[in-house]
Parts: sequence; structure tokens; C-alpha cells
Amino acid sequence: MRTSSQIRQDFLDFFRSKEHKIVPSAPVIPYNDPTLLFTNAGMNQFKDVFLGMGKRDYNRAADTQKCIRVSGKHNDLEEVGHDAYHHTFFEMLGNWSFGDYGKKEAIKWAWELLTKVWKMPKDKLWATVFRTDDEAYELWQSETDIDPAHILRFDEKDNFWEMGDTGPCGPCSEIHIDLTKDGCKPEDVNADNPDVMEIWNLVFIQYNRDEKGVLHPLPMKHVDTGMGFERVVRVLQNKKSNYETDVFLPLINEIIHVSKKDYTGDKNIAAMNVVADHIRTLTFAIADGAIPSNESRGYVLRRILRRAARYGRNLNLHEPFMYKLVDVLVETMGDAFPEIREKHEFIKEVIQAEEESFNVTLDRGIHLFNEVADAVEDTTNKVFPGEEAFKLYDTYGFPLDLTQLMANERGLQVDLIAYEEAMKGQKSKSRAARKETIGVSSTEMLPAIQINYDPYSVGPEGIKTSIETVVEDAAQLIVLKDNPFYAESGGQVSDTGKIIVNGEREIEVVDSKKDYIVIKDADIIIPEGAEVIAKVDYGRREAIERNHSATHLLHEALRRVLGPHVKQMGSYLDDKVLRFDFPHFHKLEQAQIKEIEGIVMEKIAQGINVNWEVMPIETAEKIPNVKKFFGDKYGDNVRVVIIDEKFSVEFCGGTHVKETSEIGLFKIIREESISSGTRRIFARTGEGILHLMDEKIADIEKLVADLPEKYADNFRIAIDEFKINSKDLDFRDIGILSRILEYHDKTISSLMDLREKYLEERKQAEKALAKQKVKEASDKLDEVIAKAADAEGIKIVTAKYDFDSMEELKDLGDILRSKLTSGVGLLYIIKDGKVNFVTVVTDDLIKEKGLSAGKLAGEVAKILGGGGGGKPHLAAAGGKDVGKIDFAITELKNIVLNQIKK
Ligand code: ALA
Repeated sequence: MRTSSQIRQDFLDFFRSKEHKIVPSAPVIPYNDPTLLFTNAGMNQFKDVFLGMGKRDYNRAADTQKCIRVSGKHNDLEEVGHDAYHHTFFEMLGNWSFGDYGKKEAIKWAWELLTKVWKMPKDKLWATVFRTDDEAYELWQSETDIDPAHILRFDEKDNFWEMGDTGPCGPCSEIHIDLTKDGCKPEDVNADNPDVMEIWNLVFIQYNRDEKGVLHPLPMKHVDTGMGFERVVRVLQNKKSNYETDVFLPLINEIIHVSKKDYTGDKNIAAMNVVADHIRTLTFAIADGAIPSNESRGYVLRRILRRAARYGRNLNLHEPFMYKLVDVLVETMGDAFPEIREKHEFIKEVIQAEEESFNVTLDRGIHLFNEVADAVEDTTNKVFPGEEAFKLYDTYGFPLDLTQLMANERGLQVDLIAYEEAMKGQKSKSRAARKETIGVSSTEMLPAIQINYDPYSVGPEGIKTSIETVVEDAAQLIVLKDNPFYAESGGQVSDTGKIIVNGEREIEVVDSKKDYIVIKDADIIIPEGAEVIAKVDYGRREAIERNHSATHLLHEALRRVLGPHVKQMGSYLDDKVLRFDFPHFHKLEQAQIKEIEGIVMEKIAQGINVNWEVMPIETAEKIPNVKKFFGDKYGDNVRVVIIDEKFSVEFCGGTHVKETSEIGLFKIIREESISSGTRRIFARTGEGILHLMDEKIADIEKLVADLPEKYADNFRIAIDEFKINSKDLDFRDIGILSRILEYHDKTISSLMDLREKYLEERKQAEKALAKQKVKEASDKLDEVIAKAADAEGIKIVTAKYDFDSMEELKDLGDILRSKLTSGVGLLYIIKDGKVNFVTVVTDDLIKEKGLSAGKLAGEVAKILGGGGGGKPHLAAAGGKDVGKIDFAITELKNIVLNQIKK
């Protein structure tokens, strides 16, 4: 039996022998095609070639392409769990001709590979062609020895292939295999018969469909084929299901192991198939840079994981388990796709965290679902209420399709209209709330890169230009003929500055957008057409550029120290600080932070030239290790910023220093988590370091001020000696600055130690003082006892003290009990507008008279407007009516007597 690895290799070898260039699979996350969430066919990476917009240095190619079909035109999600040959993730074996060979070779070679190399039985193969494609029909007869009765014609639905709503397309010819026992009939082809299965699609690309749905002929004709790898393996390994091949079996075995269930019975088989399928999708998508989230692609992944988790419940799996399957997957597929091996641990962490967060609510959600389903199951229309489906979504994180799936299993339909209504209400609420939030942190929100105008080479002297239009609005907006002001993009804030009109009037510019600038004073009149000098606040711009270039260095340093899973998820940089968000699951250790700072500082010290270039996207994408934000939309050309081509090459529209040494010192000032699996770093450079110094001095002064004289004196002297005004320093003196910062950090940490020590000492001193006070009071107790009142022979001792806490009062109460051979005591303090007291009763009175300190305290506290109680021998209580204490003391006698009588 040929293994799946051998079968993959057979395919590649076969087309290599037909002079095809074997190319790597593109990532499953397409980064230059806004029409696609996930790569859904082998031809995606060649879309530009088909459209006549891009070129390759070969005109025949073949590969195995990782595909995900869970959204858009090609979506197989619903099939998974119901049949044995559709997948959300699969490999597509493909061969292509870019204007080179045509239908004849495509058909001939496909037949040769299937029947000669792989020896599939000819009488079990069927070919289909587009209803008007006589050429293909005849080629099947002339170029192959297929049974002519096995060539069938179909219409658009089956034999016209399109990538999406728009894009390259054309008629196609498919090959199906008959796996039925007794042989199938023509009407079984394309009839959803699981035993008559399509295995290979040969597409003859010749049109582009535009946004309006109109077909435009392409300049050249191409061949685009796609074969379902897992299906072919199933045929060649003679299995009844794709899941029984060696592609899936290791996964299925691991699921059997983890769940301790058998792979038998429809329910178990469906659940195990779904889990095995979905873990592949999750693993490959995460390896290529996607992360489960609440938006677009991330949400699709989240849904898939939740669907799998729910099926896991059918296997009685209640703890996170999916992440455990990643090891086996890496073992079986890591050789063919090293990216999953490289990101192995990270993938596990992401999946485990996602499972954990959903698990918290999954069981409760299932419970709610069952309650609702039970209630509606017996009604006539069998509708699952939309509000409940929304609640499941909103409170329990159940994606709608999961609820639908569960409803369908019980013969119910979700009321989608009511669901949408509930969703709409929620959205308008959260929209109002969101208006408050500013700042960009998710890739989806990053604006497209601008490369149409050039604010990059601006100097301090500004540029001569003129005013095109003045738009009167709430503020005055001005359109300049040439705009040197950078408009916020890619995390870099907009420039500010001024325009000088006709060589005299200066007008402050507070913001810049792509098409216009915003001035501060909306009331001044500016003539359209006036000549102006537009001057960017150059000092500020340079500070921003230092932070921007440092961000690129930080990005690479993070990857080197933490791993290749680090990707920019969002960034913000202005003239004071830079902020960088990235996926990572652990708090950074101090040693890692030092290492990262070290790498960045080394690159700064090397004084590397920073270069940028605008180039066609295909050229840029070929640069080794180039960094691009997935999710961003790039045009045909992109700007690439290079800081040592072996270190940092990044798609970027922002502005940068000319040489890294301009950055000055780089310091990470904070590192935190912003959501599960996402961390944020704040750092400073250049002049920002001078501000940091000032902040540290302020911290030191505050710490010193909080300490008593005797501790702080040394520090006061040290600070005075060391208090360098940051204005006297140059941020380029990185040696001096790092020494000062180090000194500050050391000072801060000794001050913190000192504060700890001081607080501890103070606590001890307070304790000693309290002890002393109790001792003094106890020495005088005899006098107090001598003054005791008398209630029918029972001594009642009362006294006021100035202790700081109840502890001392209780200690003294104990002493009183031992000194007082027989009697009752009430000791109190008045503090912070409250009376606090203890009552004590000697043992003889507890036994013989049934007195209880606890009950006495309760009664007294009532008079004082408070409460409390305790044991028979000693109790503590308090009240806020300080003025009533004398009355309470007098009343104590009656309270005691009353208790005895009871
Ligand atoms: N692009 C064709 C398909 O995906 C081969 O079926």
C-alpha cells in the first residue's frame, strides 16, 4: 500500500517529469487578496498571473496547496461530520499552465497519472465536460482510452468553475470515480452519491468575472487543476472513508485514546471525524498567522473550535482536549509542512486557551439549549426562538451555526428573523459604547498603506506649495497642492506643524488626513490659491521616526527571543512612546526583556542605513523573511522598509530615521497582557528617554518624601548631588543616559527595599508600644477594680483607655479576668467617632449565675447603636453613639441583674 507521503511525492514527481516547476504551498491566510478570508484553491497564489497582472519566471507549475473551505463561495463546513470526503482543511494537488499547454495535455496527463502511474481501474472512471465544450469532449475520446459512454456533459452548476464572486473562471472537466460495488449509472455522477466521488477538476481558465458579474475574456488561456489529495489517498489505500487513511488515522487513534471511546456507531464516528477535521484547520490557520477572535477570519476559527468542542461533548470530553491532538498532527504532517513544527508549542497554547475560555460556558449553554429545546420540541411548528439563540451567542459564546446544528439534530429550526432583531438591538447599544474608545490595536482596523504621496523626504525647511481648496466646516480643512504632512497610518500618528501664507502669516496645523490638513484656528480667512510654505514640526517628526524605526527593530528582536509566532497585531507610535501588540502567551521575563533591549541596542549601535523602496508586490513578497501584516490590503506596489536586509524587511508606509544610530537609547518601560494570548509592550527612544528620566526622578522624590527623615536623609543628599536637569542632556549621549537610568533604577529599588524595611519596623514599634500601654494599664488595674460598682454582690468594673486597637483591649480584658476573682468588666476606647469595647465575665459567674460576656456585649452595643458579641468569658463589640457611653455604663448593672434572673 502506498503511503500518503509517497502519493504526494508521486504527484509532484510526475509533473516534474512534465517540466513543471514544483512550488511551495502558499499560506492559508492570503495576504494580498481582500476577496478571500482563507486560501481556497491551489490557483489563488497565481490569480495575478491569470488576470495578466503578474508574471512568474516559469509557465508550468505544480504543488500541493493547503486549502481551507469554510466561508464564501466554497464552504464545506456543514458537510463535515455528515460525509466522509469533505473537509474544512485539505490538500489540493494542482498543476498549472500559464498560457502554455492547453486542454489536450491537461486531459492526457491526468489520465496517464491516474491509470498508468496509480493504476486506477479505467472502467471505474468517469469524465464530465461543460455542456458546450465539444473540444474537451473530443479530446477525452482521442487522447485517452476512457469508455466513451463515461464522458458526460453538465451545465454551469457542475462544470463551470469560479474562484469566488469575482475573479478568474472558466469551463472545467472533472474526473469522478465509481466506488460502488455493482457499478454506477450516468445519473449517479454529480448526484451527491458518496460512492461516486469527484477526485480531480481540470479548469480551463479563460474569463475574469467583475464586480457586476460580467465575464471578460482574458488575454491568454490557462490550465488550473485541483485534485483532492485525501480522496485520492482513500482510493489508492482502498478505504471506505478519508478518515480511515493514514492521513487521518493517527489523529483518530489519538482521539480514541483521549476519549476512551470506540470509533464505532454513527454518533462517535461523526464526532471523531469532526474533531480530526477541525484540528487540522485550526493548526494550519494558526501556524500561518491567524488567531481566534471576534472578527472576520478570527471568528471563523473561533466557530470551528467551538463546533469541535461541542462534538467533543458527544464523546464525553469535558476538559480541553483539542490542543493535545496537535502533537500527533505535527508528527504526521510536520515534514511536509514544517511551519506547524516550527510553531508547535504556540499553536497548542492558542488552542488550549481558546478551549478553556469556551469550556467555562459550554456546559451551561448546552443545558440552556436543552431546556429550550425540550419546551419547543412538542409544538407544531418546531421553532427554536431567535432570542434564545441570541442569548446563547451573547452570554455563552455559541456561534449561530452551532446552535443551528444542535437545533437541526433535534428537528428544530432557529427563528433567524428574531435572532437578527436581537442582534441589531445589541449592536446599536455597543456602537454607542464604542464611540468612547480610541486607539488602534487590531489588524483589521489598520488603514491601508498609503504610497500615493510622499511625505518621506521632507526637511526642516518645509516645502513651497499652494492652497487648492479651503473647506469651511466645524474646523477649517485645507487641501494643499502638495502635502508634506504625514497622515495617520500603520500606527504612526499624523504630523503637526504650520503653514506660512504669503511669507508672513503663520497658521498652526494640528492634524493631517490623507487629503487635507486641519488648522487650529477655524476663524481666520485663508485665500484659495495662496502661495504657502508648509512646514512639518520637524523635531516632533524626528522623534516619531525614531520610535517607528525602533518598532521595526523590536519586532524582529521579539521574534528572535520569543519565537517566530510573534507578529505585529497593532502598533501605535508618536513622539513620546511606542506601543506594540503581538500574540504571546507568557509574561516576559526580566532576562528576556534585557535580551530584547540588547538586540535592539546592538542594531542601533551598528548605525545601519535605513532604506526604503517601492516595488511590485510579487517582488516584495519574494524577499526572504519579509514581514507584512496579514489582513492589510496592499495595492499593486508596496513600500518596503529595510534595516539590514538580514535583520528587518517590512512592508510599511511610514517614515523612518536615515540611520539607526539616530534612535538613541531604547528602553522597554512596560509589558502587559491586553487579552488572552496578546501582549503589549511600551518602549521609549531618543528624547522619550529624557522624559523617562524626569519621571524616574519624580518617582524617587515621591518615595523619599514618604519616608521619615532618618531614612531619607542619605537619599536627599544623593538626589541633590545627582539631580541633572534633563534639558542639559543630549539624547544621543546614550552612554551617560544608560548610566543615569541604571542609577535611577537602583535608587528606586533601594528605596522600595527601604520602604519595606521602614514599614516593617514601624509595625514592630507600634506593637511594642501597644504592649507597653497594656502593661502600664495592667499595673493600674487594682486601682480600677477598687472603684468597681456593685450589683447585688457582683462587682462591675468599667474603665476607658486610649489604645489604638481592640487587640490591646482584649489583652487587658484577659488580665482583668484573672485579677478579678469574681465579677464583670467593661473596658472601652473611643476612636474615629466610635466606641469599641470588650466585656468580660469571670468563670464562677458564668457557671453559677449563667452570665455571658457575649450576651452582655450585645445588649450594651444595642444602646450604642451598634452590634457585636463573642464567647461567655470575653466578647468584643462597638457602636457609633459615642455620647451614650455613660448611660450604657449605668445600664450595665440592670443588664447584669436581668440576665441573672432569667
Ligand atoms: N481551482 C480548481 C478547484 O479548486 C481546480 O477545483
